[in-house]
Amino acid sequence: MPDDNRPLDIQRHNQRVWDQRARQGQAYTEPLTDEELSDPLRRKAALHWLGGDVRGRRVLCLAAGGGRHGVLYALAGAQVTVVDISPEMLRIDRDAAAARGVCVQTVQASMDDLPMFAAGHFDFVVQPVSTCYVPDIGRVYEEVARVLAGGGVYISQHKTPVSLQADVRPSSRGYELVEPYYRQGPLPKAAHGLFREAGALEYLHRWEQLIGGLCRAGFVIEDLEEPCHADPQAAVGVFGHRSGYVAPYVRIKARRVGKPQRSPPAAFWTP
Ligand SMILES: C[S@@+](CC[C@H](N)C(=O)[O-])C[C@H]1O[C@@H](n2cnc3c(N)ncnc32)[C@H](O)[C@@H]1O
Repeated sequence: MPDDNRPLDIQRHNQRVWDQRARQGQAYTEPLTDEELSDPLRRKAALHWLGGDVRGRRVLCLAAGGGRHGVLYALAGAQVTVVDISPEMLRIDRDAAAARGVCVQTVQASMDDLPMFAAGHFDFVVQPVSTCYVPDIGRVYEEVARVLAGGGVYISQHKTPVSLQADVRPSSRGYELVEPYYRQGPLPKAAHGLFREAGALEYLHRWEQLIGGLCRAGFVIEDLEEPCHADPQAAVGVFGHRSGYVAPYVRIKARRVGKPQRSPPAAFWTP
């Protein structure tokens, strides 16, 4: 049994969950299709935030295995590194890159511990929804601040606190808050659904941790979006219906202006 409060146990647990999800082809483990890859700018809001031209730039796709991110930036001309805790998710990236004839470097590591990268190595860091899998989002931000060059942009997407609090099943009063905002330890494990990953250890980060944590790590916030997943036609109880009540995600554009928080590690990983 994992100790839900020990970082290594949490990592190993979530690695196993995501390895299995990848083997079974569950949600968020499907690489982008040809059609989705045909217009990277339209497909990736993040690319727009990066100025639309990433040719030759060093992009870290953090906790981004599964073939939906790295290949897209590589096709747009970037030098891409994908970090993920799950070797099975990273395999999907390598297969997708090989199928497109592009190069994507994959590194198995936890998002909050990146000693293999030199300070200031990356121009951009993009992170899809994944910070929910670590208890301390501040450590992730410190590591991103360290590996990102001064003036570099960090785009991250997160599950909103209220989405992690709200029931996945509707009541006659909408989607009620069933989990406390102030809490210790992981959320109760989810059984199924698109808002949570079954069996994974997930943590709610409050707004002051999500936004204040970025500022404390040396970032300024330049933009913030709530991608709209509401579907007025959706049946009661499904993803598009609940998303009409509760925004599931928030996307943040932050720029590193402060100094890196930690001294460089002894050994660097070179691409
Ligand atoms: C929702 S997926 C994001 C990428 C996905 N392919 C997508 O559709 O955007 C979350 C990813 O976070 C990874 N992950 C979970 N815990 C992690 C950790 N501590 N460090 C790095 N990656 C982690 C999982 O293996 C998974 O690939």
